[in-house]
Amino acid sequence: MTTQNRRKQAIRLKDYQPTPFAIEHTDLLFELGNEVTDVTATLTLSKRPGAADDAIVDFVGDGLVLQAIEINGAALAETAYSATPDKLTIHHPPAGEFTVKIVTRLNPRANKKLMGLYRSGSAYCTQCEAEGFRRITYFYDRPDVLSTYTVRIEADLVEAPVLLSNGNQIESGPLAGADKFHGSGRHYAVWHDPFPKPSYLFALVAGDLACVEDSFTTQSGRKVVLRIFVEHGNEGKCDYAMDALKRSMRWDEERFGREYDLDIFMIVAVSDFNMGAMENKGLNVFNDKYVLTDPEAATDADYYGVERVIAHEYFHNWTGNRITCRDWFQLCLKEGLTVYRDQEFSADMRSAAVQRIGDVRSLLARQFPEDQGPLAHPVRPEVYEEIDNFYTATVYNKGAELVRMIDTILGRDGFRKGMDLYFERHDGEATTIEAFLSSFEDANDTDLSNFSHWYHQAGTPVVKIDEMHHEDGSRRLTISQRFSELPHIDGERPALTIPLAFGYVGPNGEDVAVVGSNGETDMLLLSDKAQGFRFDNVPQDARLSINRNFSAPIVLEQKQSPEDQVFIAERDSDPFNRWQAVQNLAMTSLKAANTAILTGQKPQPPLPLVAALASLLANDALDNSFKAQCVQLPQLQDVAEAVGTGFNPDAIAHAHAYIDAYVALSLEDDLAGLYQRFVKANDTATDATNAARRALKNAALRLLVATDKSEYAALAARQAMQADNMTDRMAALMALCRQGRTERAEPLVDMYERFDSNGLVMDKWLTLQAMTNSDETLSTVRALLHDPVFSMENPNRVRSLIGGFASNFQQFNRVDGAGYQFLTRQVGALDTHNPQIAARLLEGLRSWRKLEPGRQRLARLALEKLREQSGLSSNVADIVNRLIGSD
Ligand code: TRP
Ligand code: ZN
Repeated sequence: MTTQNRRKQAIRLKDYQPTPFAIEHTDLLFELGNEVTDVTATLTLSKRPGAADDAIVDFVGDGLVLQAIEINGAALAETAYSATPDKLTIHHPPAGEFTVKIVTRLNPRANKKLMGLYRSGSAYCTQCEAEGFRRITYFYDRPDVLSTYTVRIEADLVEAPVLLSNGNQIESGPLAGADKFHGSGRHYAVWHDPFPKPSYLFALVAGDLACVEDSFTTQSGRKVVLRIFVEHGNEGKCDYAMDALKRSMRWDEERFGREYDLDIFMIVAVSDFNMGAMENKGLNVFNDKYVLTDPEAATDADYYGVERVIAHEYFHNWTGNRITCRDWFQLCLKEGLTVYRDQEFSADMRSAAVQRIGDVRSLLARQFPEDQGPLAHPVRPEVYEEIDNFYTATVYNKGAELVRMIDTILGRDGFRKGMDLYFERHDGEATTIEAFLSSFEDANDTDLSNFSHWYHQAGTPVVKIDEMHHEDGSRRLTISQRFSELPHIDGERPALTIPLAFGYVGPNGEDVAVVGSNGETDMLLLSDKAQGFRFDNVPQDARLSINRNFSAPIVLEQKQSPEDQVFIAERDSDPFNRWQAVQNLAMTSLKAANTAILTGQKPQPPLPLVAALASLLANDALDNSFKAQCVQLPQLQDVAEAVGTGFNPDAIAHAHAYIDAYVALSLEDDLAGLYQRFVKANDTATDATNAARRALKNAALRLLVATDKSEYAALAARQAMQADNMTDRMAALMALCRQGRTERAEPLVDMYERFDSNGLVMDKWLTLQAMTNSDETLSTVRALLHDPVFSMENPNRVRSLIGGFASNFQQFNRVDGAGYQFLTRQVGALDTHNPQIAARLLEGLRSWRKLEPGRQRLARLALEKLREQSGLSSNVADIVNRLIGSD
């Protein structure tokens, strides 16, 4: 194995030590220029109680050039400090409080990593989480060093009339004369943030931006100014984001008693951004994809995404900013909790059942595979090499599930009491998961130690349920828990507290009242590896419905006949389990079809699935968005995960196509009827009712196209050409592309011609082609790398095209391995300027070990070749090494 010259040392939780000095105040001066920006940081330091007498100051940097350094106003002798691009050490700091002045010189224009200070469109902007501040100045760039900030920004008045940082603006005006580099015509602004914060929450934005303004009055009657900054011309696309912001602010007051704390809240939309958005104090910076909603260009899913991400970042003001993380091992403290909060918000804004189904769908699609493969890690890890790689589905989404389980175990009121105590105890602190859990324990006088294991062990628990019917009308449940095997994790894993919401469903869908042997009525609380429960007097025809609402993030093993599943799908009072029953029916058929194809037999028709779907579609009491979820069958990747080790992509694709077409042909009349019923042209209303109709209509269209009848492909092509909203245009094109239909060609050209100046629509256009199921897809994707709308420097474009291709199950898993090679080559190329995005793309290979032997060998070759590339970043090296493992 070649050595990875940039591979970082592993950081371990057990090595945590506070810094010897506190930074009481941080004063920053930015003299902004595109190629030359000088940053003067004046830091007020004081020794922490308990620090050693001879403690030194050791700040981190990342690629910095030190221009000057002073202590208490006097230049420092060269022997008194040492500076490298990555480190600044002051050997004999003075006693008592003192100031350190550090001048660094940056080149924002050359910063393509999009971490630290960089340019996006017509603006300067920053991204500091997790370790970007060290690209601006030398600092204790870690979340447990909290400091107040005063920030003075100087810039050209024409180039950057808008100057923003965290907190409140306290001063601004023109600058007299020319400065040393930048000529005349400059101005300045000074911002002060009174809330002590870690460096990762620092932000600066400067540029020629348009502003949309509104206001919000808090529950205690304070008026808060709300401003959204966007590129000129996009002012008209901010209404929905602004509305979502106000609803988020109100919701956090009502649900959690949390009020906003500054006089102004700002959002800036930029088009070059590594992630979704960033919760910098009072100045959130967003990927413009999560702000802008052009009625012509945004889908219903886009509106939902804007609402969710606006809420998420806003909620961080309390869960993340007012209370932050002691170290990055605690990342789930803010992310898991805030995802839980944004999910609850979305559930209150929309259909709670559909929201839960969507959250579970993405958990199953992203987190479960991660947790069952070489990248598996605990929600709270104990070791990392590169923190950027731990912004994962496990930390975010499984982290949210753990918070949800606390809510389920304690009940809504108990949960709120715990949250209140957490805010009361830890406001203004950088804290830990242990402190979080203690708040719930103390507020509810309960013990969560058995539950806390969830945070510390990777892997998805498997819960097995055996139900015995006895003659006397009692039922006996034997429930056991175990873990899926993980090659890189060993040692005994303790049993977990697992809350299983349950009920017995009677023949008319009524919940049969039951009381378990320990008084259980609607929840079984597991705590041992095997446990028994008894219920007396359960009617013979009642069926068990368990893990309702997906109360625990587990794999359930339960023997259920197809009749039982159809029964639950038709009748359960828990909508989630109705949906789950349909998925189970589909998955059973898909797995059986896969086995049949591999053994040269004819697959069995999925009759129970068809029966369940027919009855759900005909049920007028169900809402359209729920029905749309039900007819959306498991995706190819989901089937591959369910089949597990040794899966053959060709067999899975055949099985999937067979089941899809069978269902579609069986339900053809119903689906065509639904399509006609909701086809309504000129439908641009974005409200929930119309969005639900579109969802169901388009789910029907997708299935109709899966019949492979040309009339439906023609229908989809017509919809794609004539739609006056992006939801319908995209859905029709997606159906055609997934099916590899040639009818996609004309509407794709049409879409390009209409929208080639809109980057966010071009993302969709790129993705459509990347996910097309056709032998030509790989060469099309290669060609698109050179299309003028594509740029390797823009993360949204890269994710859409290259990431889109990596999630194209059939074409990425080509039998010749060219898909894997393409991905690893692009990762290698991208790594030279944006390692974060490069590493993230590699997640497309997270399940490579489960592939059949031939493809597995090819995937390994591609990964090994990438590992040999010289100068690989620590981000990519970390992921490649974990993917390949030590063998
Ligand atoms: N804290 C951000 C969020 O909500 C995540 C984030 C934004 C981020 N930009 C980043 C993480 C860059 C790492 C690097 O959820
Ligand atoms: Zn977050």
